[in-house]
Amino acid sequence: MPVTKAEVEAKVMEVLGEMLEEWDEELDEEPGPQTTLVEDVGFASIDFVQFAVAIEERCGAKLGFQELLIRDGQYIEDLTIAEVVDFVTGKLNQPLDAPPAAPVEAPKPNVERLESIDEAERVCEDKFTAFRQIIRPRPPRPADDAPKNPRAVFVLSPPRSGSTLFRVMLAGNPALFAPPELHLLSYGTMDERRDTLNDEHNNHLLEGTIRAMMQLKGWSGEESRAFAEKCESEGMTTKAFYGIMQSALDGQLLVDKTPSYVIDKEILERAETDFDGALYIHLQRHPCGTIRSYEESKLTRLMPLMSESDFSTRQLAEMTWLLSHRNILSFSEQVPAERWFNLRYEDMVQDPDTQMRQLCEFLGVPFHEDMVNPYADNDKRMTDGVDTASRMSGDLKFHLHQGIDASAASRWQQFYSPEILGGITRDVAARFGY
Ligand code: A3P
Repeated sequence: MPVTKAEVEAKVMEVLGEMLEEWDEELDEEPGPQTTLVEDVGFASIDFVQFAVAIEERCGAKLGFQELLIRDGQYIEDLTIAEVVDFVTGKLNQPLDAPPAAPVEAPKPNVERLESIDEAERVCEDKFTAFRQIIRPRPPRPADDAPKNPRAVFVLSPPRSGSTLFRVMLAGNPALFAPPELHLLSYGTMDERRDTLNDEHNNHLLEGTIRAMMQLKGWSGEESRAFAEKCESEGMTTKAFYGIMQSALDGQLLVDKTPSYVIDKEILERAETDFDGALYIHLQRHPCGTIRSYEESKLTRLMPLMSESDFSTRQLAEMTWLLSHRNILSFSEQVPAERWFNLRYEDMVQDPDTQMRQLCEFLGVPFHEDMVNPYADNDKRMTDGVDTASRMSGDLKFHLHQGIDASAASRWQQFYSPEILGGITRDVAARFGY
């Protein structure tokens, strides 16, 4: 039975209503088919993604929203509800044997379209020093002489490096347990962690540990939340919480990919203090790709200290990239080479098979085919969130893709040339071969 536009419209409206409720927002006029998502509702590009993921969940089908949302390599300017309804209705009524849509190709660089840079805007050491002042160091941790936890693996990268895709690829290997972002290492205790993250912008970051414990113990979301609350009320150390997760594993290696750790080298050093022979994967991406992705994601919304600064989003993105990689490189000097692996996002999406095989050798686990098939078996990958996928801690754009998308590696080239980068950024990029 074909679905009707009216049925789809009802679902789309429900999803929009829930998003508005979550944002605690009311529109001046009741939304209808001609309501525009950017102009009338105030969507940012990342909100399109949340909207799309929630509609797919409601319809119980992957609909290939990238086709609707991305034109010529960039997000469309605006969309009406009617356009969304037409798209979804068309997709749901497509014959089952219809050929899959061609992957969205990144258009070729167009020199006339490239954004230029005003010299006064360029990132330099002085600006970088001022930027560092925005980042508050974490408070010291309580003394802890408990023995080290067993080996774990840490993925080190700034946000927008393809780390969610990478995490999900790792989760396809049965020898690894790679849950959504854990956000543990930055905090001494579970109550400090809750107190820091429990606000409207960040509380979804508390969900990774809850989803992980559901998987490990076979618990419901409610049971897992109750356990987290107990740990918080006892003031359990985050190290002890990692230990509980590790003791529930069946011989697998725990992988923690949480991009915010790299903002402070002292946080990285905790991995050496708390774990026995931890392994590190340094995930790199071209700075321009990361900057473009950061701008589209409106990440600064989650970080009031950054959005209130005088720096532009592009500068914040470049300096976040720079600070993260400088911290990682400096930290790497303390770690023996046999516990360190470098991986570039561009290589990972362009030749995933070779990269994953090399990585498995480093980790000492057998390669598994599911690593290069990241959209199979959502449950094992923990991409479904605790209650809904749209609250998964990590990159929601992961849900827009339908396979490993090699064209995503060069999409930035239509907007930026490496000329926009500060010399200090280019120096670090050159160390990664960019
Ligand atoms: P773009 O915004 O340039 O598209 P992170 O998870 O570290 O925040 O990284 C987000 C980046 O990973 C986004 O880059 C996103 O599109 C990209 N990504 C997610 N899933 C992907 C896939 N299946 N193939 C290629 N890139 C993917």
